[in-house]
Amino acid sequence: MKTLVELITDVVKSAFAQCNYSPEYGLVTLSNRPDLCQFQCNGALIAAKKYGKTPIAIATEITDILKKHPDFKEVSCVMLGFINITLEDHFIVSYLNAMSEADKFGCEEIGASKTIIVDYGGPNVAKPLHVGHLRTAIIGESIKRIGRLLGYKMLGDVHLGDWGLQIGLIIAELKRRSPDLIYFDESYKGEYPMEAPFNITELEEIYPAASNYTKSNPDFMEEAKQATYLFQNGHRGYVALWQHILNVSIKDLKKNYANLNVYFDLWKKESDVQRYIPKMIEDLKSKGLAYLSHGALVVDVKDNSDTKDVPPCILVKSDGATLYSTTDLATVVERIELYNPDEIIYIVDKRQELHFEQIFRCAKKADFVPPTTKLTFLGFGTMNGNDGKPFKTRDGGVMRLECLIKEAVDRVYQRVSENKEIPQDEAKEIARKVGIAAIKYSDLSNQISKDYIFDVDRFTATEGNTGPYIIYTIVRIKSILNKFTEVNPGYRAETASLQLPYGESERNLMLKITQFNKVIADSFADYSPHKICQFAFELSNEFNRFYHETKIISEKDTLKQKSWLKLILLTRDVLVTCLDLLGIEVPDRM
Ligand code: ARG
Repeated sequence: MKTLVELITDVVKSAFAQCNYSPEYGLVTLSNRPDLCQFQCNGALIAAKKYGKTPIAIATEITDILKKHPDFKEVSCVMLGFINITLEDHFIVSYLNAMSEADKFGCEEIGASKTIIVDYGGPNVAKPLHVGHLRTAIIGESIKRIGRLLGYKMLGDVHLGDWGLQIGLIIAELKRRSPDLIYFDESYKGEYPMEAPFNITELEEIYPAASNYTKSNPDFMEEAKQATYLFQNGHRGYVALWQHILNVSIKDLKKNYANLNVYFDLWKKESDVQRYIPKMIEDLKSKGLAYLSHGALVVDVKDNSDTKDVPPCILVKSDGATLYSTTDLATVVERIELYNPDEIIYIVDKRQELHFEQIFRCAKKADFVPPTTKLTFLGFGTMNGNDGKPFKTRDGGVMRLECLIKEAVDRVYQRVSENKEIPQDEAKEIARKVGIAAIKYSDLSNQISKDYIFDVDRFTATEGNTGPYIIYTIVRIKSILNKFTEVNPGYRAETASLQLPYGESERNLMLKITQFNKVIADSFADYSPHKICQFAFELSNEFNRFYHETKIISEKDTLKQKSWLKLILLTRDVLVTCLDLLGIEVPDRM
């Protein structure tokens, strides 16, 4: 259904047309002076130049027409030519009633029949997840969910890093520790064991150990490179080890992501696209795009309009090795072939921007993607510690994701466990959900490209623009509804219909809910989950103001009471939907 501002815009546009002005000047927005009016139109100020009149003269003409409209309670024009509009309550209420009955609270299915791939997560097998992997997982999951609500076929792809030196390092380290393993017996021709020679804890210890060892042993680095080369070229024993690394890692990754309420549709890997590379390179050569430069095969991607230097995209190094770029370009080729998406969105650290700029240009130049396919790079900023530097452990190491999550969860647990009515198991589960909500919400409430400071105290507070505050509001509404049904078993609040608001805070709450469908469409249009956070925060504030002024449970007028119950139910459902779009789960109590 149309958004409320669109409906009002339609009316104002036709008033402009009626006065022989171009209707485009009738654009209406939310008022930036809510103390004066609910909506405003500034079109007269812009139209004035074109029609050679004063803005106020035009605004007066329009206002005179709008004043007669039955859905508008108050229309006024103020200097210099602003048109202020306040709606009749019946119009707000009928819109809200329609919204509550509409599918997805009135969000339009703008994405029907369109496919979007979201490349997010990007973990590397065998390396533990660290805070850098957190942001991509949180943001990607949210973008995917918002798109899905709007009807897009959203395919989230984890794009697992399983092809690099880290595999060679692990193989070399295993060989150093246990040279007798069957995988290193070059004469062995039989089947390899099904069981991996390590578990996840061991695997996660092996990689950093190997990486450390290279620092003092350059020869070991050579061995790791050699092992990388061998596994990439089909060495049987090494390929079997690589399979083990994959299996053990993927199982663990799925568990970690599920804990974060992050789920991928595709578990594609860098290794999957290697088979596309030879043909892709041939193609680039035959199109005259790839050429040898200092022994490396490169494609020029700079553009005359560039203000900064955009170096050529390197696809094959002089030693014959392919690179991160080669794999990413081949991934574009594969994605177009398998899914023919309308858009691919990459959610990656913003420091990788140049890499993607090169890939996108190369893909477009080589016609690997249809001209209509959009390639979008959404670069995110760094999560910093209190000192404003990238988040580190106390001893300066890279902070592991699970440690970071634990910090937030423990903080919430302290608070929840003070409530002795909640059994310990439930308190743990509540703390897990709310702690993760705190992290996710604080991440998403910032603009994606901005750096931000990880501040556990602030994130986990139940006041202010935080995840716990929104959850707290939802839980409060649930408890009012429960209280009512205890006395009136079987009562279903959704069956009532909304009455005209009885007071200002109720009207403001209603008006806030009407913004939902617009907020969702806007947040997807510019990839901005923070707009949903801001809305959920404002909606919670409006609800809490209303709640403090209203005695719902003891209200004697049943028509009033049932309308209020319906209104708070709608508030709860809209808030829960917002949090779900952010990938946040809500406990029953907290
Ligand atoms: N694995 C990479 C890393 O940890 C991120 C992958 C991002 N996606 C991509 N298509 N390159 O930095």
